[in-house]
Amino acid sequence: MPQLARRIGRAKPSAIMQIAEKAKRLKSEGRDIISFSIGVPNFLPGEHVYQAAREALEHDSGQYGSNRGADAMLEAFLQHIEKIGLTGYTKANLATGVGAKHVLYNLAEALLDEGDTIAFPTPYWTSYLDIAEIVNARVELLPCPPEQDYKLTPAQLDAALAKKPRVLLFNNPSNPTGMVYGKDEIAALADVIAKYPDTWIITDDIYNRMVFDGVGYHNFVHARPELKDRVIFVDSLSKTYGMPGWRVGFMAGPEVVAQAVVTMNSNHITSLPEVVNAAATAALAGPQDVPDAKCAEFQAKRDQVMEVMNSIPGLVCPRPQGAFYVFPDISCAFGKTHGPTGKVVGNDVEFCSVLLEAKGVACVPGSAFGEPRALRISYTCPTPQLAPGIERFKEFFSELS
Ligand SMILES: Cc1ncc(COP(=O)(O)O)c(C=O)c1O
Repeated sequence: MPQLARRIGRAKPSAIMQIAEKAKRLKSEGRDIISFSIGVPNFLPGEHVYQAAREALEHDSGQYGSNRGADAMLEAFLQHIEKIGLTGYTKANLATGVGAKHVLYNLAEALLDEGDTIAFPTPYWTSYLDIAEIVNARVELLPCPPEQDYKLTPAQLDAALAKKPRVLLFNNPSNPTGMVYGKDEIAALADVIAKYPDTWIITDDIYNRMVFDGVGYHNFVHARPELKDRVIFVDSLSKTYGMPGWRVGFMAGPEVVAQAVVTMNSNHITSLPEVVNAAATAALAGPQDVPDAKCAEFQAKRDQVMEVMNSIPGLVCPRPQGAFYVFPDISCAFGKTHGPTGKVVGNDVEFCSVLLEAKGVACVPGSAFGEPRALRISYTCPTPQLAPGIERFKEFFSELS
């Protein structure tokens, strides 16, 4: 049999999906499972989105669309990002993809030659590593442990950029930690970036509408507008509008980068489907009450989860201010035995496995995100499941000795 390409050996199935699959299997066997594993928003977009999709179907042209994205959708996106202070962009600065993941993949193809370095903070969203490995880039991880609230410091960034990586990949608010960089923190990092003109900056900020406590969303180009010629902002409808299955992602950045992504699109997807363009335009331009309400709901759920985390002896849990994740450091449990099952919890993977089997609570081990001392709780489950789920988590802790 002929051989597969070497890059396929570097492509791995998602660790998050593996936990989700196990939880699904236990559920199908009749177990009472509460899943904190998948990072999907547990809501649907407003009726106006479905109405726009229905109308698009009725007037379907049946044709290929633009490689960049439909004009109306791009216009709506430009207006959408103006509301978060990203002004002065035109359609030539934009490109779209089948979700932000696809935009990020295209950016990796467009910006990184084999062996070029991409630097990003740890903990990181799992696909960053996978995409970098598929395109055969060199990965430089910038460890941001819980002691520094999982955030990159200006000194760390300075040291990393001094080595001239081709790309710095930044993520704010963060998946998996839920951390959000405040205005001053972004300004301090932007000052460092300004010193190093050889590096592209991708800022994957798809949770920018899910920021709590009045911290607000801040971008390097707010602090230093001259960075617009190197900063690439990535956004998505998935989490903000409850539309992960519609697969719409965007980038706004230098024209040359947007054009490169458009060229990539022209060679594989051609365009997003017409009905998807219409739904996306309606989501961006229509009433914003669903995302606003969900942001308030997630803030309340964050409070509920943090109250329990703070009451668990030995557990360290930096307080997240965005997205819908909590990322506790559970390393105080390592080496302990879970009384009722007699199982030893040696590391994060064993912790999650015993927790799932004993309590029916599914979380993702931190090692999937490059931080094996922690685990990720995604709290988008239906509200009635949240309190029992985190109580079971606490109970599990109390059964370790
Ligand atoms: C940080 C981050 N970036 C990108 C994505 C991908 O989003 P999309 O559904 O638009 O592909 C996710 C999805 O979980 C994410 O958490």
